[in-house]
Amino acid sequence: MARGRSTLNSGNRQKEELPKAQINRETLKNISKLLSYLRPYRAKFFGAMFFLLLSSLVGLAFPSFIGGLIDAAQGKATSKFLPASIQGIGLLALLVLFAQGFVSFFRILWFVQVAERSLADIRRDTYFKLITLPMNFFSNRRVGELNSRISADLSQIQDTLTTTLAEMTRQLVLLIGGIAFLAIISIKLTLSLLVVLPVLIVVAIFFGRFIRKISRKAQDKLAESNTIVEETLQGIANVKAFVNESFEAGRYSTNIREVANIAITGAKYRGLFASFIVFGLFGAIVAVVAYGCILVSHNELSVGELFKFALYAAFVGSAMGSFPEMYANVQRAVGASERVLEILAEEGEDVSINDTENEIKQKITGEIAFEHVNFHYPSRTEIEVLKDVSFEAGRGQRIALVGPSGSGKSTTAALILQFYHPQSGIILFDGKPASNFSLTDIRNQVAIVPQDVLLFGGTIRENIAYGKLKASEDEVLRAAERANAHEFIKSFPEGYDTIVGERGVKLSGGQRQRIAIARALLKNPSILILDEATSSLDSESERLVQEALEELMKNRTSIIIAHRLSTIRDADKIIVLEKGKVIESGTHDELVSNEKGLYRYLSQLQFEV
Ligand SMILES: Nc1ncnc2c1ncn2[C@@H]1O[C@H](COP(=O)(O)OP(=O)(O)OP(=O)(O)O)[C@@H](O)[C@H]1O
Ligand SMILES: [Mg+2]
Repeated sequence: MARGRSTLNSGNRQKEELPKAQINRETLKNISKLLSYLRPYRAKFFGAMFFLLLSSLVGLAFPSFIGGLIDAAQGKATSKFLPASIQGIGLLALLVLFAQGFVSFFRILWFVQVAERSLADIRRDTYFKLITLPMNFFSNRRVGELNSRISADLSQIQDTLTTTLAEMTRQLVLLIGGIAFLAIISIKLTLSLLVVLPVLIVVAIFFGRFIRKISRKAQDKLAESNTIVEETLQGIANVKAFVNESFEAGRYSTNIREVANIAITGAKYRGLFASFIVFGLFGAIVAVVAYGCILVSHNELSVGELFKFALYAAFVGSAMGSFPEMYANVQRAVGASERVLEILAEEGEDVSINDTENEIKQKITGEIAFEHVNFHYPSRTEIEVLKDVSFEAGRGQRIALVGPSGSGKSTTAALILQFYHPQSGIILFDGKPASNFSLTDIRNQVAIVPQDVLLFGGTIRENIAYGKLKASEDEVLRAAERANAHEFIKSFPEGYDTIVGERGVKLSGGQRQRIAIARALLKNPSILILDEATSSLDSESERLVQEALEELMKNRTSIIIAHRLSTIRDADKIIVLEKGKVIESGTHDELVSNEKGLYRYLSQLQFEV
């Protein structure tokens, strides 16, 4: 049933509280799935990885150079690998520096190239998956939440891939290499330093888990507040009309305060952790160096070696100190990838991906039939929206659906478009079950002029051509003319290039409808669904829209959902729905002759006015 909801919401939160081993296995599995996106760029990735290792290893050599220089200045040669003179060591260091610079450039460039390209692939796939998911998926979620998956979650993954991963590898090399060098210089000193290590690791894991949980909570809350912004801005006219600015502001600020509080709680733990590291680790270094000085005074160690030791110890210390932050980052990325993978794992609708597949394979001539259709929305299983609905429409017929608001008219349209499927009963096209046709074939041959016409941000021309992306200029013009839209479009200074949609010119309801009609005309479907807008148009616009509709309905099967009964008087059949049931059907004349009929009552109400 509500499959999407169960996998996306609470399920995962709970998973986080499961024992650690399971998180690890799950996490690894998730990461490996996303890593497959790196595959096409693996050569560059491994090249960058190699350079990264190389530059980290070379970085490790510097304390040795400096220690060597100090010892050389005192006339002692402590390393077999370094030249004995100051000039020799200096020259070698310069050469190594040059190579280091060269390698660093490509390492950064390649990492970013790999990460950006694979991220673009993940974004593309996620977006494609999103738009092919069944309608039901969207009724369970808010747009803002989905939006933040594509933006915030993927950015987190990107950060991790481009910087954290590289930084982690580098720090790991510095840590392990540093400890090895320390051991070479003095086992005694190193052991004394390593006493603190296990303690630190335990604390790191403990805090890491805490911080991960808190940051996920903060991210979720933030997504929630973004949703508020998005929804209020989209419905800004409503907010203003109801003078609900202060209500919305209050709602938002409560939410934002919660985000801040969660983030601050997280910061407290991170801060605690940082102070622990500073005190514990660097305190230990001071103690160890003091011990080292004693060794120098006993001539067990040279000054250069002690200096070298201090530098390596600082490397090791800062590497350790940087792990929790990086670990938290990786954990955030894992959380983000989980959410992205959830979308990728959803089952999309089987629609064609490329244009060439868009050609109609199975023609539908225009017969539709509903046979004993029962339907409830998957998100609201308790309310039966359609109950045993049966009707048929012959090719080229006009069938009207009327009935009170909420009786299931738009739902019937959604079922014809295969946005949802009936729980029982069957929908037939040309006498064959809908499941015999591909989704693409059905949707390519059914056009809808919806109840609320949405125009995309773009020109009027583009909006009309949405019905047929490859339409020529001439076809667009013809469609607009036939839809009675040409006149008003021409009256704009920019004509067909006028930008409409969210940031553009606002069109009136009647104008938007005529654009939608032009769109449908271009699509040239065999079945047409008109979901009449509830808001009434003035009589002039109504005439224009009506004319356009007449033009559109010629030679096709039309399902007309009407509120104004005057528009459907000459329909071949009128079906009256009430609370999801067909309670009457027949022609206008038949229905008005039924003294007790709902249709007669409704039409009396309208025509008396
Ligand atoms: N996406 C949805 N998810 C859950 N329930 C829905 C959804 N869309 C509509 N409903 C419910 O289904 C019922 C029928 O709605 P529908 O939109 O089909 O009515 P309608 O006849 O088109 O009404 P109107 O004349 O106001 O457009 C209503 O009770 C509505 O609340
Ligand atoms: Mg409706």
